[in-house]
Amino acid sequence: MDFLKLIKQQRKDSKKEAWSGTFLDYLNEVKSTPELTKLAHKRLADAIETHGVEFLSESDPRCRKLFDADKVRIYNYFNEDFFGHERVISKIMRFVKSAAMKGEESRQVLLLMGPVGSGKSALADSLKKALEKSAEPIFHLDGCPVREEPLHLLPRSIRDEFSKMLGVHIEGDLCPVCRHRLMEEFNGEYEKFPVVRSGFSLRGRRGIAVVPPMDANSQDVSALIGSEDISKLDKYSESDPRVLNLDGAFNVGNRGVVEFVEIFKNEIEFLHTILTATQEKNVPTPGKNGMLYFDGVIISHCNEAEWNRFKSEHTNEAVLDRIVKIEVPYVLELTQEIKIYEKMLRRSDFKAHLAPHTIKVAAMFSVLSRLKPSQKCDLLTKMKIYDGQEVIERGRVRKIDIKDLREEAKHEGMEGISTRFITKAIDNALTDSDKSFITPMRVIDSLIKQVKEQIIKDDDRKHYLEILQKSIREEYLKMLEGEIAKAFVTAYEEQAQSLFDNYLDNAEAFTTRQKLKDRVTSEEREPDEKFMRAIEEQIGITGSAKDGFRSDVTSYMFTKIRRGQKVDYKSYEPLKEAIESYLIASVKDMARIVTKSKSRDNEQQKKYSEMIQTMIDDYGYTADSAEEILTFAANNLWRDS
Ligand SMILES: Nc1ncnc2c1ncn2[C@@H]1O[C@H](COP(=O)(O)OP(=O)(O)OP(=O)(O)O)[C@@H](O)[C@H]1O
Ligand SMILES: [Mg+2]
Repeated sequence: MDFLKLIKQQRKDSKKEAWSGTFLDYLNEVKSTPELTKLAHKRLADAIETHGVEFLSESDPRCRKLFDADKVRIYNYFNEDFFGHERVISKIMRFVKSAAMKGEESRQVLLLMGPVGSGKSALADSLKKALEKSAEPIFHLDGCPVREEPLHLLPRSIRDEFSKMLGVHIEGDLCPVCRHRLMEEFNGEYEKFPVVRSGFSLRGRRGIAVVPPMDANSQDVSALIGSEDISKLDKYSESDPRVLNLDGAFNVGNRGVVEFVEIFKNEIEFLHTILTATQEKNVPTPGKNGMLYFDGVIISHCNEAEWNRFKSEHTNEAVLDRIVKIEVPYVLELTQEIKIYEKMLRRSDFKAHLAPHTIKVAAMFSVLSRLKPSQKCDLLTKMKIYDGQEVIERGRVRKIDIKDLREEAKHEGMEGISTRFITKAIDNALTDSDKSFITPMRVIDSLIKQVKEQIIKDDDRKHYLEILQKSIREEYLKMLEGEIAKAFVTAYEEQAQSLFDNYLDNAEAFTTRQKLKDRVTSEEREPDEKFMRAIEEQIGITGSAKDGFRSDVTSYMFTKIRRGQKVDYKSYEPLKEAIESYLIASVKDMARIVTKSKSRDNEQQKKYSEMIQTMIDDYGYTADSAEEILTFAANNLWRDS
C-alpha cells in the first residue's frame, strides 16, 4: 500500500480538473460549449437524465397490470434507491424539466407532501446528490460569494449582441461584492476579471443549501440571505459590500438547490424571502445593498397535517400560489415495499441470516396497514391485486379492476405504518435474536410488541394486531405449507407437469365428448371423472361448475398452442393452483408424520434430511433456520388434522 503515491495522484488529478482564466477566456469556452451557462433547473434535469431515461417496457407485467399500459418514464438515476415511486418521480421530473424550459414552474417551489417515512427527505437528498455527482463543471467569478455566472459582467447595453454571438440566454446582474471588486481592482475592465471552475458539494456548501426548520425565537432571516459583519462596520460604511457575509442559504444554493426541511414548521414571515426568490429571481441582501439575483431549484417537504394547517390560513395565499405540491404516498405494491427493506438491510451492518419470507411478512404488514377497506374484496386480496398478482376464486381469476379499487379509495397511501416502524421492528428482532438467523415469526412477534407499545389509538392498534395475528399469520402458514410440501415431493415440477398433462387430456376428451386414448397402450377409455374432480375440488369447483371449467381450460390451452405458445402446468393460473394444492394435499399426511415425529425411523429420517437439503438448496434456508421452521410447522400447521 503506497499511501503517498495515492495522495500525490489525487492531488495531480484535482489540479488537472482545475481551470482558471479571465472572463475573456471564459467567453471562448462558452462559444464552444454554450451549455456551460445553463440555469439551475436545466442543470438538475440534465444531471439526472444523463443516467438514462426509459419507458417501462410494455412486456413488463407491471406496465399492463399496475400502470394501465400508461407510458411511465423510468429515470435510471433513481433505480437503485427508490422502489415503487415511479409515479412520484415522474411528477418531480415533469416539474424540473418544465422549469428547465423556463416555464412558470421555474418560478415555483417544489413541495413534497406525504406521511412520515414515505421517502420525502430521501428524494430531496437524491436530487441534491445528482448535482454533486454530475460531471458537468460550473464556471463562476473567482471569489464570488454566490458563485455567480461570469456573463453577469456584461453591461446591459451589449448583452443582446453577446447573446447572439454566443448563442446563449443571459440573465441576472452582478452581485454587489463583484461589482465593487470590478471597480476597485480591475478599474472596470471586466474582460480581466478572473473566472474559475468548480463543482457542487453539500458539505462544502457549494451550490447546495439546506435550511432546517427553526422555531420563532431562533429563526433569523440571516440564515437565508446572509448578514453584515458588525466588526467591519466601523471600517466601512453600511452600503459598502465589504461588510457583507453572503453565506445564507439563498447565497450558498445559488445555481443549485435550496432545500427547506419541514418547511411549514417555520413562521410565515420567514418564508417571505421565498416569494421574491421565486417570483422575481431576486433575494434581498442584508443592510443597504439592494437585491441579489438568485437562480436555483427550491425544494421543500412537509407532512399532510402541516400542509392542511398552512393551506387553511388565507393569509398564506401568496406563498401557496408559488408552490407545486407533489404527494409522496407510501408504497402499496408489496414487491416494491420488500425491496425497500432489502435495500436498508444491505446497507446496515446486520449479518444474520433471514429465513425466507421474513422481509415479506414485514412488508405485508406495512402495506396492509395502509390499505382502506373495499366493498369489492378483503384487504389481503386487495394487496395482491395492487401487487399485480392473480387472485383465484372458484376456478377463475378474480376480475377486479385495479382502477376501480383505486377510485374507491382516493386518499390511500397517506396513512398507516411507516417504513421506519418496520425497519425498527426488523432491527429489534435481529438484535434480540440469540441465534444466527431470524424467522418470519420472530419479526411478526417483534411487530406485535411494537404495535402494543407504540400505537396509541385504540382502533388502529386493534386493526393492526388483527392484521398481524390473523391475516399475516394465516397467509404465512399457507405459504409455508406449500413450501414444505414442495420440499417433500421429489421431482415436484415433473409430478405437477404430469398431473397437468393428464388433466388436460381428460378435460379435452370430456369437453369434446370423445374417448381418451391412453398415451402408452393406445387403449381407449372414458375420461377419468374421479381424477378430474379431485383436482377441481382443490379450488372449490363442484357440481355443474365443472363443465364450464373444463371447457375453459381446454379452449384456453388450445388457443395458446395454436398461437405457437408453450403450455405447461403454470400456464393457466387457476389450474396451476388446483394442481399444486392437490399435490400438497396428497403428501400432507406424510409430511406431517415426518416433521412431527420425535423418533423417526431410518426411512423417515432420510426423508427428513432430504427435505432440509431441498429447503437449503432451493429456497435459501440455512440448516438451522430450516429446522426451526419445520418444528414451527409441525406445531402449528397440522394441529387440527
Ligand atoms: N419508495 C421508497 N423506496 C426506497 N426507499 C424508501 C422508499 N420510501 C421510503 N424509503 C426509505 O425510508 C426511509 C425513510 O424515508 P425518509 O426519511 O425520506 O422519509 P420522510 O418522508 O422524509 O419522513 P419524515 O416525514 O418523517 O421526515 C429512508 O431510508 C428511505 O430511503
Ligand atoms: Mg424527512
